Parts: sequence; structure tokens; C-alpha cells
Amino acid sequence: MAVNTDMLVFFVNGKKVCLRNVEPETTLMAYLRRDLGLTGTKNGCDEGSCGACTVMVSAYNRDSGRIVHKALTSCMVPICTLHGLAVTTTEGIGSLATGLHPVQERIVKFHGTQCGFCTPGMVMSMYTLLRSNPNPTRKQVSDSLHGNICRCTGYRPIMDAFWTFSKETCCSPENGGCCQDTDLSCPQGNSAGCCRGQPAKLTDISSLSLYDPTQEPIFPPELQVEGLCENLVCFRGRRVTWYRPVTLSQALQIKSENPDAQIASGCTFLAQQLKTCVQEVIVIDISGLKELKSHEIKNGVLMLGAGLSMADLIDLSDHGDLAEVSLVQAVPKVLESWGSQLKNSATLGGHIMLRGARYDLMPLLVAGDCFALVASKADAERKIQLKEAFLRDSNPLKPCEILISVGVPCAQKFVQTFKVAKRKHQDLASLSAAFFLGISPSEKLKIDDAQITYGGNIPSLIVPVETTKFLAGRKVSEEMIGEAMLALQSELLPFEGKGLSKTQSLWAQGFLSKCLLELIAGNQQGDRVTTNEQPDIYKSCQIFEIDQEGTFSKLKAVGQPLTHSTGEEQATGEAVFIDDIPMTVGELYMYPVLSTQHHAKITGVDLSEALSMPGVHGYIDHKDVPGVNFVFAEYADEELLATDTVHHCGQIICGIVATDRDTAVSAAQCVKVTYEDLTPVILTIQAIEAKSFLGLPWRVTRGNLEAGFAQSDEVLEGELSTKGQKHIYLETLGALSVPRERDQIEVYTGTQLCHTLQIAVAEVLGVPAHNVVVKVKRIGGGFGGKESRSLLPSMITALAARKFRRPVRCIFNRKDDTLINGGRHPSLARYKVGFTKEGKIIALQTMLYTNGGITKETSNSVIKLAVIRGESCYNIPNVLVEGRVCRTNHSSHASLRGFGCPQMLWIVENILTAVATHLSLQPHKVRELQLYKEGETTITNCFLENFKLPKCWEECKSLADFDKRSQLVKEFNSTNKQRKRGLAIQPMMFGIGIYDKFLNQAGALVHIYTDGSVLVTHGGCEMGQGLHTKIKQIASDTLGISFDKVLVSETCTNMVPNATATVASVSTELNGRAVHAACITLVERLRPFREADPQAGWEKWVSAAYFSRVSLSTTGFVSYGDFGFDFDTCKGPDCMYLTCGVGCSEVEVDCLTGEHKLVRTDIVMDVGRSINPAVDIGQIEGGFVQGYGYYMMEEVVHSPEGKLLTDSPLTYKIPLAADIPAQFNVALLKNNLNDKGIYSSKGIGEPPLLLALSVYLATHDAVKSARVERGLSEVFYLEHPSIPANVLKALN
Ligand SMILES: Cc1cc2nc3c(=O)[nH]c(=O)nc-3n(C[C@H](O)[C@H](O)[C@H](O)COP(=O)(O)OP(=O)(O)OC[C@H]3O[C@@H](n4cnc5c(N)ncnc54)[C@H](O)[C@@H]3O)c2cc1C
Ligand code: FES
Ligand code: FES
Repeated sequence: MAVNTDMLVFFVNGKKVCLRNVEPETTLMAYLRRDLGLTGTKNGCDEGSCGACTVMVSAYNRDSGRIVHKALTSCMVPICTLHGLAVTTTEGIGSLATGLHPVQERIVKFHGTQCGFCTPGMVMSMYTLLRSNPNPTRKQVSDSLHGNICRCTGYRPIMDAFWTFSKETCCSPENGGCCQDTDLSCPQGNSAGCCRGQPAKLTDISSLSLYDPTQEPIFPPELQVEGLCENLVCFRGRRVTWYRPVTLSQALQIKSENPDAQIASGCTFLAQQLKTCVQEVIVIDISGLKELKSHEIKNGVLMLGAGLSMADLIDLSDHGDLAEVSLVQAVPKVLESWGSQLKNSATLGGHIMLRGARYDLMPLLVAGDCFALVASKADAERKIQLKEAFLRDSNPLKPCEILISVGVPCAQKFVQTFKVAKRKHQDLASLSAAFFLGISPSEKLKIDDAQITYGGNIPSLIVPVETTKFLAGRKVSEEMIGEAMLALQSELLPFEGKGLSKTQSLWAQGFLSKCLLELIAGNQQGDRVTTNEQPDIYKSCQIFEIDQEGTFSKLKAVGQPLTHSTGEEQATGEAVFIDDIPMTVGELYMYPVLSTQHHAKITGVDLSEALSMPGVHGYIDHKDVPGVNFVFAEYADEELLATDTVHHCGQIICGIVATDRDTAVSAAQCVKVTYEDLTPVILTIQAIEAKSFLGLPWRVTRGNLEAGFAQSDEVLEGELSTKGQKHIYLETLGALSVPRERDQIEVYTGTQLCHTLQIAVAEVLGVPAHNVVVKVKRIGGGFGGKESRSLLPSMITALAARKFRRPVRCIFNRKDDTLINGGRHPSLARYKVGFTKEGKIIALQTMLYTNGGITKETSNSVIKLAVIRGESCYNIPNVLVEGRVCRTNHSSHASLRGFGCPQMLWIVENILTAVATHLSLQPHKVRELQLYKEGETTITNCFLENFKLPKCWEECKSLADFDKRSQLVKEFNSTNKQRKRGLAIQPMMFGIGIYDKFLNQAGALVHIYTDGSVLVTHGGCEMGQGLHTKIKQIASDTLGISFDKVLVSETCTNMVPNATATVASVSTELNGRAVHAACITLVERLRPFREADPQAGWEKWVSAAYFSRVSLSTTGFVSYGDFGFDFDTCKGPDCMYLTCGVGCSEVEVDCLTGEHKLVRTDIVMDVGRSINPAVDIGQIEGGFVQGYGYYMMEEVVHSPEGKLLTDSPLTYKIPLAADIPAQFNVALLKNNLNDKGIYSSKGIGEPPLLLALSVYLATHDAVKSARVERGLSEVFYLEHPSIPANVLKALN
């Protein structure tokens, strides 16, 4: 079939786009960002797994006359699929100039933006839901966000913002405002106080605009008229030819002429393939074929069109005529964990054609005895039984065939499906199952016939035929369940070791047991066994004080819950991140070539193919380094560009420079590097045996250890280990370097280390530091990950910019970023603890080893802090804590929020738990017994004055109703066999102030312009933590002007030199003081003019000063605190003050699968007098959820050969909105002053992460209860992280 290249026509934000020459593999995201400059659509992963690129795609359905709106991840949408459709991005719904859309406004006003990188995607997911359903339920709102990740906020404020669009929500303008301020009854059924915040609120509901669905932009009328989509079209690119037939016969004709053609259905898999494929490809896009989107029942078989999307399948379960088809009724449960974007695009046909055991619908379709109907031009349609053909490796379709529909027998059965995964939502199954049981109509609970299929992370689906034979004809009873499980166990035995692990076998048995128990339980109340659903309704409460006088006003900013200073820019997509900076004339793109070996000699680098590609300008390698070829010249332990040896996978060898990103990336992939493997290759803490270390041990000690152990009644020894954690900030590492005159260079990047980066670039270029200007506008999430590793893109682009005398940009793709940035250090600790019979710990000796990766970087600083917190918050008289960093052939492990403390606290709390278990004491009593008190001194010589931890402990117990709930947990556990609850309360304290004394300094520059506006520059970087917002508050209050008059500039090294890194939760403390000092100087300069005319006002005083030739610009500088810890003498103190907090969590563990549900968390935090309660609560919630990920969900996995397998959000699962505590209460300690903190506040960024350990401890508690009931020992090890597999291991 010969077809010319057609015009691709679609609309973007109401404007028509007509493209004649299109490259079909181009994704919508790339087109929006690169060609239309709509950079509000963010690139967080480029593989459909983060949601940052979400847009709304709308279509007109001619048959129904309806316009259908879908949220889609634009990075998975090939541009040609948009023919005849309309796209809306965040820029299309509201802007700073035209006014924010209510969705944008609410996410800002509810403090749902921190770094802002995820924000446009969140906005578009919610917006699309509203366009389809202006009155969603709270559950529909929650479900719409399963496909969007946020690493900063902890989701609670985003959910609160978006729930206001639901009728079921109180505190919503559409529902009349807060029921406490009106006569309305609370839709959430809350009678005591406001649902959010008592009595103060973080958001002024009355300031919110009403949502009016009638004011939305209309669908382009041109797309509603007949013509555009009624004909076959073809788009020919250089590599890909894209056919878009409109009838099945056209599609079959094209397929018969092009048997190798790929079929594009939902494209969630194909789009990714097209991005990387280098051969010529023909694609047949079947998404417009009506024949494949229908359903009908014929001869007792439901035929489902292969083109039906997962969202369509869910909708079918509501069709009255399908109420009796059990399989269709089971679909919503199977798919409920999917993100809306994936449900909207993935199709039944595409899902089946992937033929993988991991895909969720496969067990259901196979157990349900479904068949595929395939068609070709030449032959008659034929049936393929899924069970037979789709369990094999080879494709059962002939080259000319297309899957057109799926036959589902209309049987009425008892159907149950189960899935266990590391994360409940949008995660491929570790194990899944579908059960179809035919129940006897005459005899209760008797099974007539059974079908079972297991799927998940196993080589192929398993159908346990013998077990189904065992079940057939039997009546279900508790005894029979035991026998059935034994039958299954023996049937699965041959699979163990052949792809089915012991844990998976246990899950398989657990699922069978759950299914049969559900059958017994029917719909009765009682010991329900399915626990993996979170509740629909989440509750939260934020308790804080506010200066009543200034609530929500623009004066007296300090202490107010003001919104993020650039929140509106973030929500409308106008906030500019590195890759959003418009390209300048002559700009080039660079992409690095990375080592694929752990330790090897480079024997050759063949660049010929890469350099011959059109658009490639050249390359850089170590020979292009005019200065020092080390990342850190100080340590000289990691070459920036490898010379002849590589020491870890991901090390940069060279970089390819081209006209654009796609060319640079493809060319970099064509570089052939040959290696000769070297030994040793050390990957784990086996480094201890190999004596491979990075530096000497660090040690903190007090008392007399030997005497301590001698005095102890009991002594325990053990070994504990933690795994790593990846940062997954949403904006990956990147930089744009622009050469200026005479070897000067400007670097635009996202770093937490402006000054260090400036020096590093100067050193690699061999120029003085004053030649290098580093500018940071904002960072799309940092968490420590944009410290040392952030130097890399800046250094290599600076080298390339110098070589080619052109601006050069480089943004790492997600997988390379995750590989290059080692993340949190895995650790191993050996301990010995001595204690009395009452549980008082007398002596503790801990030796901590961390896996530092290949270089020193921050590893020694991290382990020093871990050692400093080696006793956590417990007063132990005799202590020796040592720490040592191991050198391994991994990318350097670096800083990650908490800086060594998350590992150390996990170890300490496990030791305390072991002591409590050994003595049969309650863990919280043992904790209480050792808790530090006012007037005591820590091991690092911190004298505890104005010490708030005991108060936090008491208030948290009271907020959480700890004693009563402990009792309730006991009662629950005594009446439930398969589910156990656990409750734990845990303290934490974190030193504020950097133990390297010299780093506690900061500078600022403040200008007042003649119109009275103020520009503040300081040395800290804004990465979502609200630093610039707090700085604005400090500046405006110190100057006595409104918040709006102050603008905080980008951070740049030519404005504020030698700035300390934005780390260690100390940035507001340091930079705030410097800004305050500068503002005080200016206030003094203006004093005469103020006194001369007190009524004149700010602008007039400024003007008078200017005309009197008084300088309206000044610097501020602070050298903060008299402290610093000396490891040689063990003299401190290590910090200026301590931020304290206590967390209490309750979980419910499913004892058959090891999954848990986070029932409730209460946190009481001492933040002094908060400068901004909304920002501080945001840090607490966000830090807690990131910590929850670390302790309970996120697992870094390497292959046996050491390859990183979890290198993106697709494989490395971080918490989603659905994972946050069902009840999440955060209270800031009231009447609380801190005379050592700026405006009496306290540093907050890192400490709250540590309180997520309470979830791990609660899980431990629940597992213990199950073990006791089963007659197992109370002493057990719950491995880190507590993913279901590890919990199950501990249970058995
Ligand atoms: C971010 C992300 C998260 C995911 N999470 C999950 C998850 O939690 N659980 C899960 O089960 N799956 C998950 N998946 C996988 C998902 O289920 C599949 O990608 C999807 O079902 C494929 O459907 P599609 O219509 O998009 O297929 P496409 O990408 O369009 O096609 C897939 C393959 O099938 C072929 N094909 C498609 N239709 C036909 C047809 N009618 N006839 C013949 N060949 C055809 C195509 O040529 C292609 O080779 C995830 C995928 C992504 C991207
Ligand atoms: S960038 Fe598209 S989902 Fe992450
Ligand atoms: S605000 Fe969501 S990722 Fe930063």
C-alpha cells in the first residue's frame, strides 16, 4: 500500500500544530519542551515512571458525541499518535500573567510545592480528573495520583489541596469553607475541631478561587468536524515510518505487506523501544481502530477488543450486561494499583503481547481460560488459548497476524486475585495469583472445580494442576486449607531454585490460604485477611502556633505559614530549571561515555563511528584537561576523565559533543571501549576482609568500657546491616557552561556546593577561581545528592565549552544519574552491649563499617556524624563507637539526608530492641530508661540545656494516645490471626551546626533600589526546602517592609563568595543570620531619614537616603557559634544545639504476605519558634516519607556481577501518595524558644527522616506478636529494608 507522507495535525493549548516532516519516534514530551518551549512539562525519567511529564490529551468521540480527556505521561506518547487530538499542558490552564487555575492555586496555597519539579505533573493529573469528572470522590482524587511521584513533600499537602475538589471534603471553598467557621456539618464527620490544624490553619480557605467547570477552554471545533481522522495517514521519518490506518482491513493489509512491522497500541512499551532502536522500523498504529475497542457477548463468550485500554476495562465492570462475568468484575481490583496515566494508555492487546509472567492481568486471563483471537489478511481468524501459547517463549502470532480480541468465557465463579510487590501501587509483582473456584450450588463451601495461575517475577506463569485437582470436590475448612497448602508446597518444590524463590513459594501458599479464608469469611465481618488496601480516607492534622496578629498578612512575615516564594512559578511551569533554560545560538550538547566495568584497564577507545555521525562536533577526554584531572584535587583519588584505568561502573571516560541531545546520546552509545579486567573487584563490605579502606577509623569514647561490661548483668553481641538508598531527586544532574572572554566561564547548574564547584571548575580548567561564575537559580530536589556528584556535569561541560568555544549543556539521563550517584552508604555494624536486669545499658561498643564506594568524597564526613550520634539520644555511661569507610568498586557513596545518622539510629534502636526482648521488657520502657535529660552531657560534650526531647516524648505519647492504643493493639492481635498490629515510639536528636567549625560561616549581599524594592543574595541554594522563603521572611521583617517587596536572587559565586555548602540543616541558620546582619546595617543607615519623617514611609525614606548619597547596598557576614568536635581528644561540643523529635507509628502486618499498612503516625517536633510553620511541617512530612522509603520500601539491588538493577523509578520504588500514614499528625512543640537559633528557630531539614524508624520498629513489634502466637522465638532479625520478603522471612 503506497502512501505519501501526510501532515500531522493536532492542537496544543488551543493552538493548531501542523507538521509535515516529523520523526515518528519523537515523543510528545520532547516536542513540547524542545520545539514549543513548553518546559512546564518536566522530564524526570523519560520512561513513564515519575509522572512529571503528565499532560491532558483530549479526543472527540464521534459515535458518542463526547469529548474524552486522559492524563498521559508525554514521554511515552509518540507524537504521531496525536493526529486529530488536543493536548493541554500546565501552561495552557493558567499563568502568572492570566491568573492561576484553581488546581494550580490550591497546590501552592496548601504548600504542596517544595522543589516544584513534580508540581506541573501533579497539577495536570488533577486537572484532567476534574475535566472528566468535576465532582470526584476523595478516592478518585487519590487514585488519580498513583502515577506521580514527589520526593519532597510527603504528599500530604498535595492530597489536602486536591481533596478540596471533592464533595466529601471539609475546608473547601466549593463546600462552603471550613465547617468550624460555618453552620455546615462536616463532610468528614469531624465534630471536634477543624479537620486540618487546630486551631491555626496552614491555608486560608477563604482566599481560594472557586472552581467553575464552565470556564474551561473548549475543545478545538476543527477537530470535531469530520475528515481529519477518517483516512489512512502515513508519516515517514528518517528511521521510522508510521502508518495510521482507520480500519482493521487497512491494518491487516499493511501488516501483510510489512510482516516485520511493529504494532503500536498503547505504546507504553513500544515508545521506549523506538527511542533506543537504531534500525529502520515500520509501525502500524492501531489506536484509531474502532473494531478493536468494542465488546460483545457471543455464544457465552465475551469478546473484548484488543484495543481497549485498561481504563476501558475497568469501566466495563460497571456495564449491567457484564455483571455476571466474574473475570470482568475482578479486573478493577487487579488494576487499582496502576497510575491513571498507565491505565489510560496501556491496552489489553499490548499487555498480552508482552507475554510476561510479571504483567498483572496475565494470571487472571490464564486462570479464566481466555483465548486470543488473531487475524491476518490472508487467513481466517484463529483462536489461540492463552494458557497454552502464551506460556512459551516464542511469539504464537504469525508475522502477518494482529491480535484483535480476547475471548472471556462468561462463567460465574468465585474469583480472587492477589499481588505482592515492594510498593503497593504501580509496581510489577514479586508474585501474583488468580483463583477461579466453581462453588457447588447445592453444598455450601464445596469446590466443584478450580483454576489457579501464579505470575510475578518468575520465568513463566505457573499453573499448579495437582493443587487444583486436590481442591476439586472438597469442602473448604480450616483443616482442608492446611492440606491444600501442603499440596501446593510439594507441587511448587520443583520450581524452587528454578526461578521461584522460597519466599515466593511462601507467598503462593499465603495467597491460596487467603483465597480460601475469604471464601469462608464471605462478606461477614471478622478476621478479614486481605490487608493490602489502604483506606480511602486519610486523616491528618498539623498542630502549631502562629502569631495571631500577622496570620496570613503580608507584614510581620516571620512565624507565618507563607507559601513557597516561587510556588506560583512552579505550578504554572514558569519556574526555570537547568534544562528549561532556552538554547542560545551555537549551543552544543554533550553526553558522557561511561565505564561498563568495575575495575579494568582501558585498552582502546574507538570514537570513529561516533565522530562520523551527522551533527557530531567532537569529543573531550583526559587529554583536553588543561588543569587538574581530578574531581576533588584535594583528595586526588578520582579522575574526572579516566586516563587508562576505570575503577567503577559509571566512571566517565570521555564525552561526545554534538548539535543536539539525541545525537550526542546516540553517538556516545556508539563509542567502543575495550577493557582488560583487573583485580581485585571489591563490591561489598567484603572490603573489611580485604582491608580496603578509605582513611583511618573515627572514634568517639567515654567512660570505661571494660568496667562497664564487668558491671553489667547481661551482655549481648551481634551484627546488623543496612542497605543503601538512592536519592531520586526529580531533576537529574546537569549543567550549562557558557564560555566568556579570556578563559572566563559561567556555569548554570543545580548544586548544593556553589563554592566548591567554582573551585573544582577553576582547577580542572587551570584558571583562577575569579574566572568562574557558578549560578544556581533553583534545584529540583537535592537531599545531599547534589553535593559532590553535582560537580561532574559542570566540570565536563566547562571543559567542552572551553575546547569548542561554544556553550555546552549536559543533563544526565535518569539511569546514568542513578548509577553515577552512589547514594546512601550501605553499612555493617558489630556490637556488644552490657545492661542491667532492669534494662539500663551500662556499656556499648559499636564498630560501624560503611561501603564508601570508590572515593573519599563525603564518606568520612558521613561516618563521623554517624559515630557522633553513636548513642542516639540515650545516656550510656561507657561507650566506644568506631567507624570506618570501606573502599569498593562502586560509584562513590555520598551524602543523603541524615548523613550517616539513619544507619546509626537503626543500629542503636535494634540494639535497644534486642535488650528489651532479652529481658522481656517493653521496648518503649527501655528507651525511656536511657533517654537523656536536661543538664546531662552527651558523648560529644554537648551540655543539654533547654533540652526538649523529654517534653517531645511526653507530648508524642499523649498525641498518639500511646497507652490506650498499646492496649488496643494487644486486643486486636489477640482476636486476629492473620493480621498483627505493632506500635512503636522512637526519639531522635540531631546536632545543628557543622562539626568542622570553619564551615559555620555565611555571607549575604542586600541591595535596596530607589523604588524601595529589595534584592537579597546569599550563599545558600534553594532546593525545595523553603530556604529562600524563610530568607525573604527574615529580610522583610528585619527591614520592616512587606514580604512582596523582597526578591531573593539566584545564588551566584560572584555575588557572595566562598559560601558554605547548603547542607546539614543549617542553611537558614547561617544565611539567615548573614542576611539579618546586612539588613540591620541598612536599617541603621535609613534610621535618620525614618526619624526625620516617621510618617513618610519606606519608599520615601529610601529615596531620601539615595539623594543624600547614602549607600543602599551592603554585605552581611556571620561566623556562627563556638563549637567543633575534635576526634583526637574527643572534645566538643559537636554542634550549636540539638533539634529533637519523637515519632510514634502503628502498622498492620499481613502475616501471610509480609505486607504492611501504615495505620497512623504521630510526630512531635521541637523546631524552636518556627520561622515558617508550613515550611517546617513540609520538611517534617517530606523527611518522614523519605525515611519511610529508606526503612520500609526502597531496595537497591545489584546483579551477582555487581550491575545496578534498580536504576530508575521504574525499578527502584520510592513511596507514593498511597503509602503515607492513613492518619498523619504532626505537632510543633508550643511555647518553644531557642536562644541559639535565628529568630529563636531550629534547623529542620534532615532530622525528621529519622523518625520513620518508628515504622520499622512497629513492624518489628507486629512480627514479634505473630511469632509469639506461633510459638517461635521472640529473638529474630528483621532485615533492612522491611520489604514484604524480609518481613515474611522474619515471620517464619
Ligand atoms: C511506568 C510503567 C509502569 C508499569 N507498571 C506495570 C505494573 O505495575 N503492572 C503491570 O502489569 N504492568 C506494568 N507496566 C507494563 C504495562 O502493563 C505494559 O507496558 C502495557 O500493558 C503494554 O500495553 P500497550 O498497549 O502500551 O502496548 P504497546 O507498547 O503498544 O505494545 C507492546 C507490544 O505488543 C505489540 N502489540 C500491541 N498490540 C498488539 C496487537 N493488537 N497485536 C499484535 N501485537 C501487538 C507491540 O508491537 C509491542 O511489541 C508498566 C509499564 C510502564 C511504562
Ligand atoms: S518523564 Fe515522563 S513519566 Fe517521568
Ligand atoms: S516538590 Fe515534588 S519532587 Fe520536589
